[in-house]
Amino acid sequence: MPVKLGVNIDHIATLRQARGGVDPDPIGAARVCRAAGADVIVAHLRQDRRHIQEADLQELRKLFKRGLHLELSVAPEMLSRGARVRPDSVCLVPESPSEVTTQGGLDLKRNEKAVGKAVEKLKKAGIGVSLFVDPDALSVRAAKSLGADAVELCTLRYAKTTGKHLQQDELEKISLAAYLAEELELELHAGHDLDYSNVAPIAQISNMRCLNIGFAIIARSVFTGLKAAVVEMKRLIVASR
Ligand code: PXP
Repeated sequence: MPVKLGVNIDHIATLRQARGGVDPDPIGAARVCRAAGADVIVAHLRQDRRHIQEADLQELRKLFKRGLHLELSVAPEMLSRGARVRPDSVCLVPESPSEVTTQGGLDLKRNEKAVGKAVEKLKKAGIGVSLFVDPDALSVRAAKSLGADAVELCTLRYAKTTGKHLQQDELEKISLAAYLAEELELELHAGHDLDYSNVAPIAQISNMRCLNIGFAIIARSVFTGLKAAVVEMKRLIVASR
């Protein structure tokens, strides 16, 4: 099975919001990403609306019949607003107003009730649900028992760890969590801080189905253009299988 590439376009919207105008247009960017090989367009509707706006999501939904994936917190208001767009799938993520970006996976023990309710609500609406979790057995098992369809394993520590052996340890944690996800029949996704230099070992995990990547692609696009940046990431993922 091939690994899909989900391109997160939040940072195109971050640039647009910097001047409060219409450029650069995240919808135009999404078109370029899809034409260049992105299978999925990913956007995070944050409570503070620092980048993606609801109007963007409506436009994306009109444009793409398939492959629209949202990241949302479990706050009931955000769930309702997100579900209104009828995305194909949602990844539930922890969200705090002061963070620069998502800081890690959901604490499913602490937030069991809220996450369980959110999963139920989204599934009732016919939306696929994944849970963003750290790569450990407890989290993967909890995701299964809360009714998720998929887990997105957080690759932040893997990506940020320096030193060959320490990074290998992080990769091993991800591989073990991936193995457990397969045993539990959870679809497997991964993301956060993946880039051109670290994506291959993650893409090689046999049951990996989708990698969600944003910052590295948008950052590279400043130098190469968005099309080339997506094409190169897709090429690396395909070549690693
Ligand atoms: N997956 C999830 C759940 C995220 O929260 C993010 C960040 O928005 C990403 C993937 C993409 O991370 P990055 O922008 O570092 O590639």
